[in-house]
Amino acid sequence: MDSENSLVIVGAQWGDEGKGKVIDYLASEADVVVRFQGGDNAGHTVVFGANIFKLHHIPSGILNQGTLSLLGNGMVVNPLVLVEELEELEKRGIGTGNLRISSKAHLIMTYHKVLDEANEKLLGEKKIGTTGRGIGPAYADKALRRGLRAIDLTDPDSFRNRLSQVLPLQNRLLKEACDHPGFDLDELIELYRPVCERLAPLVTDTSLLLSRQLEAGKRVLFEGAQGTLLDIDHGTYPFVTSSSTVAASASSGSGVGPNHIGQVLGVLKAYTTRVGEGPFPTEEVGDAGELLRMQGNEYGTTTGRPRRCGWFDAVIARYSARVNGLSGLAVTKLDVLSGLETINMAVAYECDGNRIEEFPQDIEGLKKCQPVYEFLPGWDEDISRVRSFEELPSAAKSYLKALEETTGVAVELISVGPDRSQTIIVPGSTPEHWRKL
Ligand code: IMP
Repeated sequence: MDSENSLVIVGAQWGDEGKGKVIDYLASEADVVVRFQGGDNAGHTVVFGANIFKLHHIPSGILNQGTLSLLGNGMVVNPLVLVEELEELEKRGIGTGNLRISSKAHLIMTYHKVLDEANEKLLGEKKIGTTGRGIGPAYADKALRRGLRAIDLTDPDSFRNRLSQVLPLQNRLLKEACDHPGFDLDELIELYRPVCERLAPLVTDTSLLLSRQLEAGKRVLFEGAQGTLLDIDHGTYPFVTSSSTVAASASSGSGVGPNHIGQVLGVLKAYTTRVGEGPFPTEEVGDAGELLRMQGNEYGTTTGRPRRCGWFDAVIARYSARVNGLSGLAVTKLDVLSGLETINMAVAYECDGNRIEEFPQDIEGLKKCQPVYEFLPGWDEDISRVRSFEELPSAAKSYLKALEETTGVAVELISVGPDRSQTIIVPGSTPEHWRKL
């Protein structure tokens, strides 16, 4: 069964869980890595020896020569940014010949970025806190059936035709939203001409390519971006991104049936962070939050914004386990908690005097929730050199055990630092099996 050869990796919190590192680690054994949603709002920092790579569209698998990297149909792709990313990688000696773009992926155009920023301004204090990359407007145009797609990059006539159809309306929207003078068709065509030429050879039927790889028994990693609580349906709407970030989206966003989906690894930070607006029950705005931000270097890869920080929230983790069907957990940044005397873990919420075990349905409910904490003993040891579960201090083991018990999902991978080598694989786990396939 080919689903045994596939692994979906998703963020189980609000994004920035360290998926890039986990994916990069497992991608070294993958034949194919496919992204299935989102765009350049994602920011993966991958540390490889002395090299730090910041990737936005491109799957972390690109760093492994021989791994096929696919941008699936569920993505929105900014061609100008993608070309910059490709050039940066090539400048640093990383071959990019193994990248392919779904002909059905939608394009983020210059006007989408301007509209994103204008929408945020119009929302004022109620703004979403987007990355400003044009993600929402690009997905909105996809749903409104007036988007441009990667296939349009491959044919100058079709690109011009499509753009000339949609530009007058976009210019009217820009005028209304922010008194923008609008974009000139010929200038846009000139701007996009070199990127069309650069990207056209990479545009293909990635669904077919992926199906063939799966049929041939190749190992496929489905790389999620953002996190479960940013999912357009299951997240803290409206403070979410505009795509479906949960594991089921791996299938529709890459063009293969759900029978191809195997295990689902949920990546969780050992604490919680969030960028942008919206409720966050375990947020620490005082010293504890500042400490986590400093020790965890919690600043956005895409925007540089300081991330909001707080304690681990098991209510969220349980919810993520349910809506994603998580088969295992990857716990990252455990080393950041070293040195704390006590570590808080929210095991439930209290709302209007009631104890709540399940994640509320809407943000109004969530806003009223206070975390119910369990207080676990911390550890002083530097764990960044630990390479097996047994070597961890007993308090760190107990913390992980508590996390497993409260979520009902086994911890399968533990990250104790940004480098590939700083990874602990639990014996008998899916990641171990995956690496041995
Ligand atoms: P957008 O995806 O740029 O529209 O932003 C919508 C929300 O998702 C904002 O709160 C962003 O901060 C958040 N967001 C988008 N991408 C990421 C990510 O990769 N990591 C963390 N938060 C993100």
